[in-house]
Amino acid sequence: MSQMCPDIYWTGVIDWSVRHFHGYQTDQGTSYNSYLILDQQPTLIDTVKESFFGEYVQRITKLVPLDQIKYLIVLHAEPDHSSALPLIYPYLSTCTIVCTQKCQQMLKTLYKQMEFARYQIVDARSELNIGKRTMKFVPQPMLHWPEQMWSYSQNDKVLFTSDAFGQHLASTERFGDQLDEQQVVYLQKEYLANILGPYASQIQRACEWVVQNKPKMLLTAHGVSFRKDLDVFTQIYSDYASGLTARNKVVILYESMYGATARAAQALAEGIKSAGLQIEVLDIQVTTLTKLAAAALECCGFCLGSATFNTGPMPDVSKAMGYLAGLGLLRNKPAMTFCAFGWSDCTSKLIELLERNKCDVVFREGTMFKFRATQEKLEEIFERGVQFADKCEWEQE
Ligand code: FEO
Repeated sequence: MSQMCPDIYWTGVIDWSVRHFHGYQTDQGTSYNSYLILDQQPTLIDTVKESFFGEYVQRITKLVPLDQIKYLIVLHAEPDHSSALPLIYPYLSTCTIVCTQKCQQMLKTLYKQMEFARYQIVDARSELNIGKRTMKFVPQPMLHWPEQMWSYSQNDKVLFTSDAFGQHLASTERFGDQLDEQQVVYLQKEYLANILGPYASQIQRACEWVVQNKPKMLLTAHGVSFRKDLDVFTQIYSDYASGLTARNKVVILYESMYGATARAAQALAEGIKSAGLQIEVLDIQVTTLTKLAAAALECCGFCLGSATFNTGPMPDVSKAMGYLAGLGLLRNKPAMTFCAFGWSDCTSKLIELLERNKCDVVFREGTMFKFRATQEKLEEIFERGVQFADKCEWEQE
């Protein structure tokens, strides 16, 4: 049994084995966090993924019989948090579902059994008295779905943040300060990049709410929660929303056919490095889209290289750039191409991929060479790296 603070318990489940979460490679599993507030009107926050229903119910009933739960606050309708709802609802004989109007519509569409459930619709002006405490609600549309909200117990200064501030991390610990902080920070950034990347303005507003209201605890829907150094973990979100995550690193992403593009990537990296920037070189064949997005979140410049394959880029280059375009992580960042070719260079198609990502494309004439770069050409590519560094806005540490 995990007590988060007086009267508030974790009633979630740990998914140690999930590795694919709608395109996100979750190497460290995840958790689906639910919470129980034991007040005069016992109140649940969220459910879990349906396959964990039995474990979820066991955890709750150690604390309170299901028929005594008076409210179930549903912060988010996505099935990783709601698919156990139609399973548990028949046992919640005196319970009312508390959610936004949009969430109610989604729950009714997702689960036929929820069509005639008891609902109480809330918005930013609503308050819900559950005994010693009053719950408030903070709609957070697009963090990460349109129906989403946070809930706040002002009495405890505890904020239930749904997807925001979470990480895909399976752990028996419940708080970030019980683990290696660097690991938690990395996973939080990875989650931000892959799940919430497109929503910078919403993140900005959400961070402002946290700064103004000064909660003492952030209870997340995935991974660990936070009770110490809240400013550190909020800062990651705030920096992203204000464009400050991209400080001093360039990402080079490439796919090579026979090694020529890889050698060019190395020469380019050395040129950029010589100007003082940090470099992350990612061979698309051995990286994941998940790691790529995390790198893209923090880069101040982006270089895309490919061998020509049937007049266009190598197949995985297009796939990776399509993934990044959906997340908007390269928007307005300087970007350039490089290309190895035999008889038809693919520069224009690489530029199309950068433009789809709304990059600021520089050196539009391209940086290309036939079959294999000569030593002289590699020196030119090194120089191009130096020039590219000059196009990036970055902070020297
Ligand atoms: Fe963890 Fe957007 O669901």
